[in-house]
Amino acid sequence: KAGLQYFGAATDTPGQRERAPFPATYATYSAILTNPREFGQTTPTNGMKWLFTEPEAGVFNYTEGEVVAGLAAATGKTLRCHALVWHNQLAPWVENTTWTPDTLRAAITRHVANVASHWKGRCHAWDVVNEALDEDGTYRKSLFYNVLGEEYIKLAFQAAAKADPGAKLYYNDYGIERPGSVKTAGALRLVKMLRDAGVRIDGVGMQAHLHADVHPTAQDHVDTMNAFTALGVAEVAFTELDVRIEMPVNATNLAWQADSYRAVATACVRVPKCVGITLWDFYDPFSWVPDTFPGQGAALLWFDNFTVHPAYDVLIDTFKGL
Ligand code: G3I
Repeated sequence: KAGLQYFGAATDTPGQRERAPFPATYATYSAILTNPREFGQTTPTNGMKWLFTEPEAGVFNYTEGEVVAGLAAATGKTLRCHALVWHNQLAPWVENTTWTPDTLRAAITRHVANVASHWKGRCHAWDVVNEALDEDGTYRKSLFYNVLGEEYIKLAFQAAAKADPGAKLYYNDYGIERPGSVKTAGALRLVKMLRDAGVRIDGVGMQAHLHADVHPTAQDHVDTMNAFTALGVAEVAFTELDVRIEMPVNATNLAWQADSYRAVATACVRVPKCVGITLWDFYDPFSWVPDTFPGQGAALLWFDNFTVHPAYDVLIDTFKGL
């Protein structure tokens, strides 16, 4: 289909290496990850974040990010790059500095310029600003916001556009999948703010960490994507898809999960500007979910024993014939 360019899975470094009971599990994991019949795209879940790329002020390190960027290049996968400016997983020096507007402007510009330049030409897209909104749709009171207000968002996009003009520049967030929710409204305001200021933004990433209370229908997803593209962004994507289950799994919750995955895929196929879907990893034991939400899990498509969830077949079915 003209619009849909990829279906992919993010993968972790360094977490993957630490958690995988090597080597047997990892060999199987790696074979699936690199199989072009399974995934045409990947994203590093951690390795390009500030903590890893600028661990000391002005000292840049691309080792972790290169693991996944290199894998993408070696296996012909589209690469989404994640994330230039985020309040989380910041290097301790960033958190421990007393910033003035001028010093913080300079630090953001230097970080974005260096990191985006390093991967110039290799990222289909960059998540330039990640999770700048609170649950009520107002700006998150992050270190960046508290010193610079919304100016930091413009600054990050401008620096990214300069450093890697060919990458699609995204605003990326969770909880912006439902049309009409206060947080979706906040994301629409943020996009409009950039467009009105003449700052380039090419895409909106709906992370889509879905669960029992938030699992939009296909029509909901379509309506949300149409609201974003109506503001003039060239593309939208599902960037961190997973659907977590209250453990243990059973036929009922797995069927409900499959429906939630189907809704995302159906909607993305229907909306020409929906360029792709990325799972936030694909193997349940490597998911972020159980660490963050004890008692929940099985959010991805491959169980611990490498058999697939019912959602896997549902997705194959949805994409068949495209
Ligand atoms: O590298 C350290 C290791 O040295 C240490 O021994 C170990 C002990 O816990 O932690 C390791 O770091 C972990 C890191 O992932 C690498 O695996 C951190 O504790 C852990 O907090 C971190 O979690 C990541 C999380 O972002 C941080 O908020 C997840 O892997 C990652 O999947 C998750 O991804 C985010 C997206 O970037 C943005 N959207 C939400 C999404 C899920 O939270």
